[in-house]
Amino acid sequence: MPESGNNTLILKGNIIYAKSPEELICSDRSYLVCEDGRCAGVFQTLPEAYAGIPVTDYGDHLIIPGLVDLHLHAPQYAYRGLGMDLELVDWLERVTFPEEAKYAEITYAARAYETFAEQMKQTATTRMVVFGTVHAEATLLLARKLSEAGFGAYVGKVNMDRNAPESLCEESATASFTATMDYLRKFTFLKAQGKISDRVQPIITPRFIPSCSRELMDDLGELARQQGLKVQSHLSESKKEIAWVSELEPDCDFYGACYARAGMMGNPVPSVMAHCVWSLPEEVQMMKEGDVFIAHCPQSNTNLASGIAPVRHYLTEGLHVGLGTDIAGGFSRSIFRAMADAVQVSKLYFRYVDQKKQPLTLSEAFHMGTMGGGAFFGNVGSFLPGYEFDAVIIDDTGLASVLSMNLAERIERVMYMPELCSVTAKYVSGERVL
Ligand code: GUN
Ligand code: FE
Repeated sequence: MPESGNNTLILKGNIIYAKSPEELICSDRSYLVCEDGRCAGVFQTLPEAYAGIPVTDYGDHLIIPGLVDLHLHAPQYAYRGLGMDLELVDWLERVTFPEEAKYAEITYAARAYETFAEQMKQTATTRMVVFGTVHAEATLLLARKLSEAGFGAYVGKVNMDRNAPESLCEESATASFTATMDYLRKFTFLKAQGKISDRVQPIITPRFIPSCSRELMDDLGELARQQGLKVQSHLSESKKEIAWVSELEPDCDFYGACYARAGMMGNPVPSVMAHCVWSLPEEVQMMKEGDVFIAHCPQSNTNLASGIAPVRHYLTEGLHVGLGTDIAGGFSRSIFRAMADAVQVSKLYFRYVDQKKQPLTLSEAFHMGTMGGGAFFGNVGSFLPGYEFDAVIIDDTGLASVLSMNLAERIERVMYMPELCSVTAKYVSGERVL
């Protein structure tokens, strides 16, 4: 047993966490110990070594690992729920691009990102991989707001040097690349000033292939490799988008090959690709070999009529899969909701597409929304020893019923009805942030 001291934190409550996709651990009225920002264990009886250390008792509330949103767009938060009768490409052109152009105005961005950070803080999400806009100043502001709200986050200034309205499009590959360099330099400066925490990092963010010239992609890939940066983008989301990519990039045999050509399909550059609804076998193989993370965004894929990602296949193949809200392709900010949506669409896939692909289990969905996506951040998303201490306290009294339920049943109902629950406290790497 380790020496316990000032950096020890002990919470008590109903503890639920994933150990693997198949194993959901539930421990009634137990102790969760944090030492130096990391989990030291879950105990039904508190070991002697921790005697005398104050315990924060959350009564009958649930204690779970913080949820991980592996893909969302902060500037799209303001118009969630609009344009939901459109498909992807029309939605981008008619709703998204005109709105994102407004973030050139820093006061507009400040108002929008203040609301975004404040409202996301009230959710069970503790970590996010997030898109800003092409605007470096606005995106730096976003990083600061997320840092102030206590999040762990990768925050990307978006790159777009083609196929966008003039108000949003960067002038050239060089201009876009230079703006990213400026973003990275200022990010480092704000960190040195203590205005952005160590938990918030920049990430290279080419929007998707239709928005980025080959020259720009090559430069960004090289930059990521040289500076040890991660990459986020979109991949094989809709059929129309894929047809557009093959028109624009006839030399690539498939969509993912365009990222691979720029060195952005995983090892040695860690990357997360949103959607992967229509990935071909070669693309799946490439993601597997490169340890690419897939951000599964079931609500967005439904709203934008993109399709259903074959997640059972990805899990069987051993790919890394996490969940994303994809705000505002998705209107809900809840990763609990994404868990439920993932199970629902997997059932439609099973029924309509391939009866050999078993629907996802609740335990698999919970794993994806915590540990699955959390692995992009390191040892994040579980209460196994050594994991970063991201914990969320959930009050589910709004779901109380005449039935008495066990913890697995209670968390299942939270996934399906998160709007009836509230987050009463939140810790990230052992620091209380709510
Ligand atoms: N592909 C390129 N940009 C976007 C975006 O903003 N949202 C979604 N869902 N897909 C995209
Ligand atoms: Fe997206």
